[in-house]
Amino acid sequence: MPVRQVLKMGEPLLRQVAAPVTRFDAQLAALVADLDDTMRELNGAGIAAPQIGVSARVVIFELKDNPRYPHLAPVPYTVLVNPLVTPLGAEEDEGWEGCLSVPGLRGLVPRFRRLRYQGFDVQGAPIDRTVEGFHARVVQHEVDHLDGILFPQRVRDLRNFGFEDALAAQLTPMPD
Ligand code: NI
Repeated sequence: MPVRQVLKMGEPLLRQVAAPVTRFDAQLAALVADLDDTMRELNGAGIAAPQIGVSARVVIFELKDNPRYPHLAPVPYTVLVNPLVTPLGAEEDEGWEGCLSVPGLRGLVPRFRRLRYQGFDVQGAPIDRTVEGFHARVVQHEVDHLDGILFPQRVRDLRNFGFEDALAAQLTPMPD
C-alpha cells in the first residue's frame, strides 16, 4: 500500500469530473489504502482520488486533536464514496485553506457553514451526516476535487491568496 505521488495544480486530471464508483470491491479498498497512506505521510486533513491520479468519486478526511489547530474541532476519519452535498442555509464562513496539490500556498475561501452529506463507506454502507464548521469545510474542499475544482478557484479576492511563509502573520493555521 504505497504512498502515491500527488498531482499538482495544472495536471489535466485535477480539472476533470471524476467517475462514480460502481463496485465496492478489492480495487476500491486498495485505492482507499493508498489514499490513507498518502494523506498520513503528507500530514493532510483530506485527499481525493484524482489527486493520486485516479478518476473516481472517493475522498477521505480526518482531523485529529492537534495542538497546531486548537481552533478546529476534530473530524472523525471518514471514507466517502459517491458523495452528495446539500448546503443547509446560505450562511458562509471564510477560512484559510491549503491543498496537497497546491503546495506552499494558502487562500481565504468562503464555504457554506452547514451542510448535509450523504454517500457510502468503503464497504458500501450508507453515510448521512449533518455537519458544520471545519468538518463542513473539509467536505466541500474534498468534494470539489471530484468536480475538477481546486481551492484557488474559490478565492473571491486574490489579495487573500499567497505563499504560506509570506502570509504567516495573517494566517490562521490550517492543515492541507
Ligand atoms: Ni485539496
